[in-house]
Amino acid sequence: MVNSGKARAHTNIALIKYWGKADETYIIPMNNSLSVTLERFYTETKVTFDESYTKDTLILNGEAVTANESAKISRFMDVVRLQAGTTMFAYIESENHVPTAAGLASSASAYAALAAACNKALNLGLTGKALSRLARRGSGSASRSIYGGFVEWEKGHDDESSYSFPVEADNWEQDLAMIFVVINNKSKKVSSRAGMSHTRDTSRFYQYWLDHVDEDIASVKHAISQKDFMQMGEVIETNGLRMHATNLGAQPPFTYMVEDSYLAMDIVHQCREAGYPCYFTMDAGPNVKILVEKKNQQAVIEALHQSFDKDQIIASDIISTGVEIIE
Ligand code: DP6
Repeated sequence: MVNSGKARAHTNIALIKYWGKADETYIIPMNNSLSVTLERFYTETKVTFDESYTKDTLILNGEAVTANESAKISRFMDVVRLQAGTTMFAYIESENHVPTAAGLASSASAYAALAAACNKALNLGLTGKALSRLARRGSGSASRSIYGGFVEWEKGHDDESSYSFPVEADNWEQDLAMIFVVINNKSKKVSSRAGMSHTRDTSRFYQYWLDHVDEDIASVKHAISQKDFMQMGEVIETNGLRMHATNLGAQPPFTYMVEDSYLAMDIVHQCREAGYPCYFTMDAGPNVKILVEKKNQQAVIEALHQSFDKDQIIASDIISTGVEIIE
């Protein structure tokens, strides 16, 4: 019997951010979040379980990973083994389809693909909600990469109640795109995991963040139901900036923004003034992601090209389909 499976999952970018955990072991977030899943960036992962293996092995883009990364993977594989009632170790081969050196590799697509591949390999029979819960145990944002389109992660209060689900948008996502401005980061990297934990524990602004995030989710869902791009954009830009403001309120404070991030944000404002609605968001790094209607995508790209190299600008559609089994 072959205990293997291969799956493809796409990255997602949060429009309303997940920032802070209520439970670190089960990865239960402090707040709901809402994302779009991207066509351009994805991970394909094949997993094989075998009685003869003496440990888990991860080969990422053809190379063995660091001890640190493999410890994180093995903790996730322990969750899988417990759920499957098996003691078998696994050989995992993973390919990240993101432009090289862009700093866009994502734990969201990685754990969504791995969860789906394990589901297939071990015949776990998990579907949407249960698969989203399993992916969440690897990385919170991975729970959202099980689905395409707009996706909400309901924070819940325990392992059972914390999962993602698609938000009905009448295919509106097909009219939208996201433009990535890839910015080189010379400063020391603070992982999202470390950043959100430090902020949750120490930021004077964190309670303010929590107090407003539900309104933001409701506003974005209302904007989706009305296909009101400008309303959605205003909310997501504010929400992203508010998340980054919580980091400035941490003790000690920190920021993911660098000079070129501000430059990209400025260009977004100029595009809006020129009559091309577009809105930015940022995650745990300096790259700026710009949500735009496809009809205005080229105008915004051209404006960015005035200040950034061509290879720093990458546009992606929003994909409507979720994680797929490919073998
Ligand atoms: C800023 O999902 O990478 O991108 O659950 O600790 O693995 P862990 O964190 P992760 O955090 C993502 C944070 C974010 C916002 C978001 O994607 O919602």
